[in-house]
Amino acid sequence: MLSNAFNSISSWRNYRATPLLKLNKLQKNLKLNNIFYKDESKRFHLKSFKALGGAYAVEKISKGKKNITISSATAGNHGRSVAWGAQRLKLKCKIFVSQYVSETRVNEIKKFGAEVIRVKGDYENSLKECQKQSKKNNWKIVQDVSTKNYKYVPQLTMAGYSIMIKEISKQTNQYITHIFLQAGVGGLAAGVVAGVAKYFKRIPKIIIVEPDQADCVLQSIKSNKLKKIRIKKESIMGGMSCNEMSLVPWQILKSASDCCVSISDKNIAKTIAGLKDKKFSKISITGGECAAPGVIALIGICNNIKAKKFLNLNESSNILVIGCEGNADVKLYKQLLSKGRK
Ligand SMILES: Cc1ncc(COP(=O)(O)O)c(C=O)c1O
Repeated sequence: MLSNAFNSISSWRNYRATPLLKLNKLQKNLKLNNIFYKDESKRFHLKSFKALGGAYAVEKISKGKKNITISSATAGNHGRSVAWGAQRLKLKCKIFVSQYVSETRVNEIKKFGAEVIRVKGDYENSLKECQKQSKKNNWKIVQDVSTKNYKYVPQLTMAGYSIMIKEISKQTNQYITHIFLQAGVGGLAAGVVAGVAKYFKRIPKIIIVEPDQADCVLQSIKSNKLKKIRIKKESIMGGMSCNEMSLVPWQILKSASDCCVSISDKNIAKTIAGLKDKKFSKISITGGECAAPGVIALIGICNNIKAKKFLNLNESSNILVIGCEGNADVKLYKQLLSKGRK
């Protein structure tokens, strides 16, 4: 499945591996050998790793048919990928969003020719409505969240994400010792872990990073079962503000993760500004609200002697952080950047 994903996606028009940057100033400050930053702001023109998942799943499940309609529910970036994937193949597309999805994100989805349907309530309501209307109209649902009876399509999205690791295996010959992986429902993290198993020669330590308001991976691992949590306040890390893990990622991450870290919204704006204003690297990096958490967690752990020792982080460590999105929500990015510069 992973090789197929790479072969398909790398044949798409304008495909290029996203840059593997170095946070050379930060690695010096934290006394680490290397900090690599995979810059997904450059992923096609969608500015997020999500471009790899939904669009690939659309291609696989449509099997060349032209008279089908694709549907999906989304918090933003996944729907954008699905809409783009449908447009590439000239398929009709219906995207369901909750009342919390910003108008900027909705407009980005519409740009790819999809019809956007707003649903009152949260993400779960938008998913239920998507399922109801899709059943009635025989639309093909492309969701990135897996459940007991819905695994294949989410697995395709994860296979799409795994190509980041295939690219990295060609971009450096340094062995990566630690990977910091942001998680919402866990699809990104599980896709990367699958990629590591296939493409890396050595298995690094896996550190999962979540918003403290939405730490469903941490809570699930702690109690050794899938745990649904209650989100009291939505995190600014919108794409990661999820209350329950996807089933397949749970099955992968429960044994593959070495450590879970949860972080608050407090340092997001400052870190976005730091990336942009070359505080961490020699070049300026556009990293959005879900790109910052990996850097924040790494700094937090390095400032905690016990945690640093536990994870064996030292001067020979080669860290990988995933800069999973750029300014995918342009308005929010501008706000956070100016807040972070104050
Ligand atoms: C933009 C965006 N959306 C969503 C997520 C979460 O991905 P997943 O729900 O697959 O864990 C991330 C990654 O942290 C992200 O950067």
